[in-house]
Amino acid sequence: MHPAATRSSQKTIAQFDKYVIPNYKRYPVSIVHGEGTQVWDAEGKRYLDLFPGWGCNILGHCPPKVVKAVQEQVAHLIHVPNTWYTEAQGNFAEAICSRSFGKAFFANSGAEANEGAIKLARLHASSKPGGANRYRIITFTNGFHGRTFGTVTATAQPKYHEGLGPLLPGFRYAPYNDLEAVRQLVDDETCAILLEPIQGEGGVNIPDDAYLHGLRQLCDERGILLIFDEVQTGIGRTGKWFGYHHSGVQPDIMTLAKGLAAGVACGAFVCRDEIAPSLRPGMHASTFGGNPLAMAAGIATIQTIEQEGLLGHCEKMSERFRQHFSSLQTEVGIIKELRIRGMMIGVDLTIPASAAVGKCMERGVLINVTHDTVIRLLPAMNITEAQVDEGFAVVRDVIREMAQDDGK
Ligand SMILES: Cc1ncc(COP(=O)(O)O)c(C=O)c1O
Repeated sequence: MHPAATRSSQKTIAQFDKYVIPNYKRYPVSIVHGEGTQVWDAEGKRYLDLFPGWGCNILGHCPPKVVKAVQEQVAHLIHVPNTWYTEAQGNFAEAICSRSFGKAFFANSGAEANEGAIKLARLHASSKPGGANRYRIITFTNGFHGRTFGTVTATAQPKYHEGLGPLLPGFRYAPYNDLEAVRQLVDDETCAILLEPIQGEGGVNIPDDAYLHGLRQLCDERGILLIFDEVQTGIGRTGKWFGYHHSGVQPDIMTLAKGLAAGVACGAFVCRDEIAPSLRPGMHASTFGGNPLAMAAGIATIQTIEQEGLLGHCEKMSERFRQHFSSLQTEVGIIKELRIRGMMIGVDLTIPASAAVGKCMERGVLINVTHDTVIRLLPAMNITEAQVDEGFAVVRDVIREMAQDDGK
């Protein structure tokens, strides 16, 4: 038994069976403790976590500076409504916007950040002369934006829509990385284009820089807002502060969550200064948004990344993963493509990949599979060289085994 556990995994699972709605597929262990890239289950088994917090734990589990900042903040103020000013919210907004642009609004999750961005896009269009009918938003095949009604509609994957209709009107879907297809869909009723600058859940799909530049130009020509969902790519994940820094294409609105406060629930969107007044008082709000605990965690997250040089470190670890996986690709016949940017790693197989998750877990390594064939890793930015090598060795052995079973 791990010292942090009060009972076995089996007992916790039995409690869930009785009291928790079973809408998640869960691994059959209860996690009780985490430190950096490692977690332990109730029985004391240690796992190397290459997918910490589904991308939320961008600094791994319980990063010391974030823990300290939350501990200090919790003794002063836990929650203050947005009818007051707090130093923490101002400081975090400055930390984000001085590294990107504009002004920030705080929420609690990725879906909530995107929901706000969708509302702002419509509000902004309708505030302009003749803009009353401009409500359409173009999103992209294989994108993912969340599970609220607005954001699940924005998510152009039929599997997430089954049984939910009617969905929110006003969305059109274009194939990703195809500029001409978007151009065809834009009309006088379009107010925004919303996309991930790298698709995460859709399989770590990295578009061409020229495509993003083309979208920017199209938006400027047609007076449409360009919205980047950086819920997964933001705050250092790709080796730069924000995903858009790779192409240099600045969106009009950018949404953030996941790693924003290193695992403490926090979402935000940032918009250009000229657009901000369209979010008129009374038109949007979030009770817990911008609460001091999340803000303190967020400030400590940005300070840690900066002070520990983690953007550079992330690029180095990314290159190490790339070299490892590239040599594996030449060895086995089942790796179709590697798609890697910073600590966003997709290994696209020629065969279904889901079996890899259980096989890695048995050997003490946690990974994810998305889009049927893609092994996805979202390691912490501060993963060490030794942990990259240890984790890769297990994933490599599992891929080798799968290749052998497949006769390749
Ligand atoms: C790109 C992107 N947008 C939005 C979301 C939704 O975020 P949340 O689950 O915090 O609502 C996710 C979650 O995986 C995501 O990857």
